[in-house]
Order: sequence, then C-alpha cells, then structure tokens
Amino acid sequence: MTAALTDDEATRAALAQLRANDVGTFVKPAERQYPHQWNWDAALVALGLGLHDPERARLEVRSLLRGAWRNGMVPHILYHLGASDYRPDPAFWRTAEHHPAGLPTSGLSQPPILASCLHRLHALAPETERAAWHDFLAETYPAVLAWHRWWHTARDPEGRGLVAIVHPWESGTDDAPRFVPALARLRPTAVPEFVRGDRTHVAAAERPSDDDYARFVHLIDLYRALGWDPDAIWREAPFRVVDPFLNAVLHRADGDLAEVARLLGEPTDEIEAWRDATRRAYPQLWSDAAGTFQAWDDRAGAPLPSSGIAGFAALWGRLATPEQAEALRAAFADPAAYAPVDPAGVRLATVRRDDPLFMPRRYWRGPVWIVTNWMVADGFDAAGMHDAAATLRDDALALTRRHGFHEHYDPTDGTPGGARGFSWSAALTLVLEREARAARLEA
Ligand code: GLC
Repeated sequence: MTAALTDDEATRAALAQLRANDVGTFVKPAERQYPHQWNWDAALVALGLGLHDPERARLEVRSLLRGAWRNGMVPHILYHLGASDYRPDPAFWRTAEHHPAGLPTSGLSQPPILASCLHRLHALAPETERAAWHDFLAETYPAVLAWHRWWHTARDPEGRGLVAIVHPWESGTDDAPRFVPALARLRPTAVPEFVRGDRTHVAAAERPSDDDYARFVHLIDLYRALGWDPDAIWREAPFRVVDPFLNAVLHRADGDLAEVARLLGEPTDEIEAWRDATRRAYPQLWSDAAGTFQAWDDRAGAPLPSSGIAGFAALWGRLATPEQAEALRAAFADPAAYAPVDPAGVRLATVRRDDPLFMPRRYWRGPVWIVTNWMVADGFDAAGMHDAAATLRDDALALTRRHGFHEHYDPTDGTPGGARGFSWSAALTLVLEREARAARLEA
C-alpha cells in the first residue's frame, strides 16, 4: 500500500494521468484496456479537464460530437484511430451506412451525461472563461438536443415518458445484476468471428462471464442484421429494459439542457414536455418492498428485482421523494446493505452486500466506481443529506489518493481492480476535490 497523496499532489497526478491517456484529439478511458473514445467517459473527462484546461476539454467534446449519426444518436464507442486489439472491432458493428465518413462507431449509445457536464462547466467557469463556454454551449447545443430527441423517440417511441435500453452496454453498467434475468432468457446463437479481447489487460475474475459476453455479442449480431433501424430494433429487441439509472441520467441532463436553452434564448417546450413525462412515469419504478427503484423488463412485462446503485441514481436525477431518499439513505447506513463492516471498507458498493449476486471484485457486480460515488454524493447533497455526501466524496478521494486511478475498487478493503490508469477516475478526482473544498467552506 502506498502513502496517500496531498491535495496538490493528487491534482498533479490526476492531470498527469489524463495527459498520459491523451492521444491528441481524445483521451482514452484507459491506456490499454480501452483504446478508443467512449461516450460518457469523454463527457466526464471534459468536465475534469475543463477546470484546468478549457480548450482541451472543448476539443474532447468536439471529437465526441463528430461521431453523431444523422438520426442524432451519439454512439457509445468512436474508433477515431481505426482498429486495435479491442473487441468488438469497428467492422464488427456494420455501421458504415450510418456513421460519419471516416469515423467508424458502435451502433449503441451510452448514458447522456454530456449536457450535465457542459452546463456545469459553464456554471463553474471563471469570469475570463464565461464567454468562451457560452459560445461553446451555442456551438454544441443542436447536436446535444438532437441526441436527447433520439433517446426520447428511438428508445421511447410510444411516449411512455421513460426510455428503454436494448443492450446492457447502453446503461454504462454493463454486467449489473439487474439485467441478469432479462439476459438469462436469451438464447445466444454462435457468432463465429467474435473473439473476446477484454481479458488481455485485466484479470478474467474482474470481467463479465462468458455467458454474459455471448449475450452481449448476440444482441449486437441481431441489431446489425436489422441495419440499426431504431423502429425495427424497438419491435424485435429481445432485450428491452426500462433502466432507472439511464432514465435518471437522461432526466437530469434534460433539466441541464433546458437551462442551457434558456441561456441561449432557445425555446424549451419540447424539453420541458420530456421532463414532465418522465416525472410522471418514473415513480412506477419504485418498489416499497425493496425500498429502491427497480428496472422494468418490457419483454417479461415485470420488474427486475435487484439492488444496487441504479436505485441511488434517482438522487442524481432529482427524481426521489423525501421519503424515498430517506429509504435510500437508510440502506446506505445499514451494515447489512452498504455500510462497511470492516474498518478498511469503503462505500458505495455498486450492489448490496447481502445480494446473492454481489461480487466485490467483478466489474459492475459490487466494486466501488468513482463515477457513481460522485453522482450519488451530488444527489445526497441535493436531498440535504450532507453527511452521506461527504462520506462518498471522502471515500472516493481516499481511494484514488492511496491507490491511483483504477477502474474500480473492492468495497470490502479498497483493493483496486479493473483497468489501470483509468481516465474518469482521474478526471472526477479533480471535480471531487473542488466539490469537497466547497462543501468544507460552506460547513
Ligand atoms: C466499460 C464500462 C463503461 C465505460 C467503458 C469505458 O465498458 O462499463 O461504462 O464507458 O468501460 O471506460
């Protein structure tokens, strides 16, 4: 175990990590494991970088939006540099008809956190940078609006007020337990040309199982055969899940986008209509018995009972009532659920400890992720639960200071896991430090 860094050292280390992963026009999520540009990683990297190097942050976002499809979708992976040892490789997706010339992309999207990051960058900008951020909001607004419209139509064509994802990767939390029953029903057919590449740089025990992976690839195989047509995918997708996490991210981002629209003097009716519809529909995801929000399986017509951070995302989305926020806080403080029992333990495990699917070192099955700590801390603060927020920020900062910037950390003892040199853990360290300082000043 290494000694923890001081404030200044932590800032320097985070900036050095982002520089190390910078290939010029985008920052790789991790040096070896993720050599392309990923959607929400890029937004989070831009947020952290923007506090120190605004011009570089704007370039990150421009690179991401360059990948937008004609129908508005901003894809989850952009292969700016062409193929690498990462799988799926660009050709596997068969998206040539849709992606911009010369920039191959995946065919799925990812949590639309970009509007929230841009709005925050403008709000936090010093006086000297305000005008530049304002211009940048104007430059990016049409593409971000078109992307939100894509979510609200392609992934909610019936106007239910909640979008459904058609692949676990669209949630950003790939192998989360809430998807297990919906994936179990699939009967993956063999995809002969697919070879996994995700266990070259990271231990197999920290990655999704072969069963999960076969299903991830099977879904891509079905959708590429449908030519990535959103209507056909909506009709045929054997996996269609209303995810409380994705919907909370989108709802918050819609709110931030409406703020941006107001700053720019643009109309907000369309965005406010999305917001109203989500506010009306989201309460259906609450389970009194479980004390949390749960995903809904469109194909089974039933909830997907599961624990985990997806429920806490409602705090980030400002979608929990005070009573619901209190139930989430109680679980947060409960040693049978999320509070550590060991002195070396840290929060917030992405899955409850008493969940039969909890695995402290496997990817989204239990480890602490810096991004979810940051989001839930923000949500607890907004609910007036400042102690819980401070715990999450302190735990996240202690982890990155002690161990460096990893993809995730074991909640039972802080052991780092997943990819090393993980960009958003560095970027969000910069953001969390600033927020922790501000919270200390306010207290
Ligand atoms: C993993 C994560 C996803 C992230 C990507 C790149 O696939 O599940 O959320 O965007 O890695 O870091």
